[in-house]
Amino acid sequence: MTAIVDALSAQDVFPDTAAVAKSGHLVIGGCDVVELAERYGTPLYVYDVASIRSRIAAYREAIGSRYPAKTTVFYAAKAYCAPWLLSLVAKEGLGLDVVSGGELHAASAAGFPLERVYFHGNNKSADELRAAVDRKIGRIVIDNVDEVRLLAAVAKERGARQAVLLRVGPGVDPHTHAHLTTGTVDTKFGVDIGTGAAEAAVRAIISAELSLDLRGFHAHIGSQIRELGPYALAIDRVFAFAKDMRDGHGVNVRELSPGGGYGVRYTPGDIQARPVDLIRGVSELLAKAAATYGLTPEITIEPGRSIIATSAIALYRVGSVKEIAGVRTYVAIDGGMADNLRPTAYDAVYTALLANRVADRSEGEYAIAGKYCETGDVLIQKVQLPRPRVGDLVAIPASGAYHLSMSSNYNMAPRPAVVTVSDGSARLVRRRETYDDLLAPESPE
Ligand code: LLP
Repeated sequence: MTAIVDALSAQDVFPDTAAVAKSGHLVIGGCDVVELAERYGTPLYVYDVASIRSRIAAYREAIGSRYPAKTTVFYAAKAYCAPWLLSLVAKEGLGLDVVSGGELHAASAAGFPLERVYFHGNNKSADELRAAVDRKIGRIVIDNVDEVRLLAAVAKERGARQAVLLRVGPGVDPHTHAHLTTGTVDTKFGVDIGTGAAEAAVRAIISAELSLDLRGFHAHIGSQIRELGPYALAIDRVFAFAKDMRDGHGVNVRELSPGGGYGVRYTPGDIQARPVDLIRGVSELLAKAAATYGLTPEITIEPGRSIIATSAIALYRVGSVKEIAGVRTYVAIDGGMADNLRPTAYDAVYTALLANRVADRSEGEYAIAGKYCETGDVLIQKVQLPRPRVGDLVAIPASGAYHLSMSSNYNMAPRPAVVTVSDGSARLVRRRETYDDLLAPESPE
């Protein structure tokens, strides 16, 4: 039993509290997940509170470890924007990155201190900006020159002077999936440094000085980044730009953010660098750049995925096992692309185990197929498992980030229930959607 527990934690893909009971059942947060599946049904998402807290603590320590001025960790709400999670994150003292009026509303409703909230987005509407300014949000991260004009007008209309950051593009390839790349010249996000667009935006902000207070710069270069190299380039370019803006335009650069993007392991063989090591490396790079450029702004980082991805598992029930002799065996589960779009959208690779028979020997390679009416709905192409049977429970680790926040009602599927687990007790934090929920916004004619 101990050997299996060690093997699970060594993979770095399961919550910290993952263990195996004598019965061979997977246990998370002291709760037998087979019992959770019986009590709450499947598909079920299980978040381990202890893992979330320990990742937060580790990243705060890591980013502050080398940098000589104040550092703050912000959680990127898009990874999963649930009231219970926002309130946990607020209590831990983190800030929050929101990207829409909806996420801002969720933050307000959860009582998140709005002075610790940043508002990102490449096309915020006038109404969204008004709501943010009226609620005295901490920072609005300006994305483009049109937004400078719009926000300046909104702030003027509200009689406010809004603190802003400018999102700049450092022209760096983060070596990740094309859909997760934002730091290059050809991106819809931010204003590029190399083309002169960033400097033009700085000029525009300065000329709206009565309404906008430019605090500094932001550069998020992408997501699921596996190495320090791209951060090194981006940090150097942003500090160099900040110094140029100080020297050339008198900008008082008080804040900088290299964003989020710290990659996590989805399978045991995935990425070697752990997020905490990347963040410690970023802290060192920031300290070095501060010394080189003679600027020591306050720093914020914005991890989303690395706080919650490996803090949760998804649990599914096997409904059929179809063997195509000599080709492949499809194990069909009761969820799929409606609750986890990542394999379809980014060719993401996952691993799995049978949660009711963790200790059984692997007997072959299986595909884990979703239940939706689409050929691409296969969550895992190949995974080693004991021979699955109808009724078995499949647990997919690293399911906490960008699953539920990107989930849909495709095929009129109700979204799954969510529980948090901690010290042997489970709490239902989101009930399973019902068929009536699906019809609620619709008009019959
Ligand atoms: N800050 C900004 C400005 C961002 O755009 C993002 C993510 C983050 C922080 C957080 O990045 P993280 O630490 O979570 O990598 N749906 C995709 C990921 C899209 C990320 C979008 N922006 C996926 O499932 O992989």
